[in-house]
Amino acid sequence: GTAQIGVTGLAVMGRNLARNFARNGFTVAVHNRTAARTRALVEEFGGEGTFVAAESPEEFVAALERPRRLVIMVKAGDATDAVIEEFAPLLEEGDVIIDGGNAHFADTRRREKELRERGIHFVGVGISGGEEGALHGPSIMPGGSAESYASLGPLLERIAAKAPDGTPCVTHVGPDGAGHFVKMVHNGIEYADMQLIAEAYHLLRTVAGYSPEQIAQTFRTWNTGRLDSYLIEITAEVLAHTDAATDRPFVDVVMDQAEQKGTGRWTVQIALDLGVPVSGIAEAVFARSLSGHAELREVSRSLPGPQPRPLDAEEAGRFADRVEQALYASKIVSYTQGFHQVQAGSEAYGWEVDAGSVAAIWRAGCIIRAAFLDRIRGAYDEQRDLPSLLADKQFAEEIGAAQDDWRDVVATAARQGVPTPGFAAALAYYDALRAERLPAALTQGQRDFFGAHTYRRTDREGSFHTLWGGDRSEVTAD
Ligand code: 6PG
Repeated sequence: GTAQIGVTGLAVMGRNLARNFARNGFTVAVHNRTAARTRALVEEFGGEGTFVAAESPEEFVAALERPRRLVIMVKAGDATDAVIEEFAPLLEEGDVIIDGGNAHFADTRRREKELRERGIHFVGVGISGGEEGALHGPSIMPGGSAESYASLGPLLERIAAKAPDGTPCVTHVGPDGAGHFVKMVHNGIEYADMQLIAEAYHLLRTVAGYSPEQIAQTFRTWNTGRLDSYLIEITAEVLAHTDAATDRPFVDVVMDQAEQKGTGRWTVQIALDLGVPVSGIAEAVFARSLSGHAELREVSRSLPGPQPRPLDAEEAGRFADRVEQALYASKIVSYTQGFHQVQAGSEAYGWEVDAGSVAAIWRAGCIIRAAFLDRIRGAYDEQRDLPSLLADKQFAEEIGAAQDDWRDVVATAARQGVPTPGFAAALAYYDALRAERLPAALTQGQRDFFGAHTYRRTDREGSFHTLWGGDRSEVTAD
């Protein structure tokens, strides 16, 4: 075969990824279960590069140079296993199967192990950036063996987005499922970012009394500063859009029930297993599910709330500035939590993920791309084993400078009856970490009271139990 890479599964993501490889000078074998799609791709985009259309799995495999590199772009789940089973028997030792779908990292670990035993490399790759990213340069998060990355990396570097300093947004994240794990956390952070932006919008709309167009303008201004990011940019676009059918703001005609495909939920499920407090991401997932409970919202609509107190223009402007501070501070917390999860996953699975390189490859191409990520990369560059982003001097200073306004926004939201679970959870996380003493001591006392679950003391080593039902003397446990 002559093709350096093959793509099977030519729905929009697969098609765009194949075109991206071809546009970068690679010969690309393309295959789809229904051959009409393969033909359509070559007919429509054949001029962009060199494609080899394959009608059957055998033809597809034969079209690839060795070691073969074939990318599977099908819906994550059973379809991935089915396609692997279709191709694996046709492959030879050293060939590489690449899964570019949004797979659960546990599935990727299982597949990698099974295929490794058959002499085939399996690389789970997180790809972010949607359809446009796939075509023009996504952020790419490959796991799998270092050996497979040596053969695959140079190709991925060509098609990946380039950070402002020119570095390709791809790195070997770590073995087996590390790439899909990091993509999962990326999506969790994406949910949190979106929720925080939504809360900022809600506050500006309800408390400041701004129109969607005014809020779009506010976001455009914010986007020239430290909040500079893709999500803020597109939010301004969405808010400024007018619905053609009704001539009303688009945001007012869309059903207010947020959906999800599941990667944010996975982030939280895994965080619970790892014991990582990703409260901001969790609130974002719950906010989406709450919005979808139409029946609960219906029966709750008449519950009492505060009288809204509209602000005058000057007050509104000052409030908007404070919302910017709250948004930025909460964003620092989301990323702190997300990176904590990356590090916890890396430790639990022995991946040795470099947090700084993860921040570096999120600087362009992906949905959460932002100027901010270069700062995170810088923080990890300065201290590779930084225990928390909040331990970075600059972030600590910024969040400290924002905290008064942040508190004011959360308090105002509570007073005016605007739900801000993301801002509030982020602030609670900040305050809990700051606290000299937490009421966890009381929790331990309660656990010991009702279940003899024991506690440790601040002044002595060991585990202790108080005889609550007896004379309340203390005994040493175990
Ligand atoms: C990306 C996105 C993408 C994700 C969608 C939809 O990085 O390109 O994260 O992978 O699937 O954004 O996610 P939800 O349907 O769960 O909102």
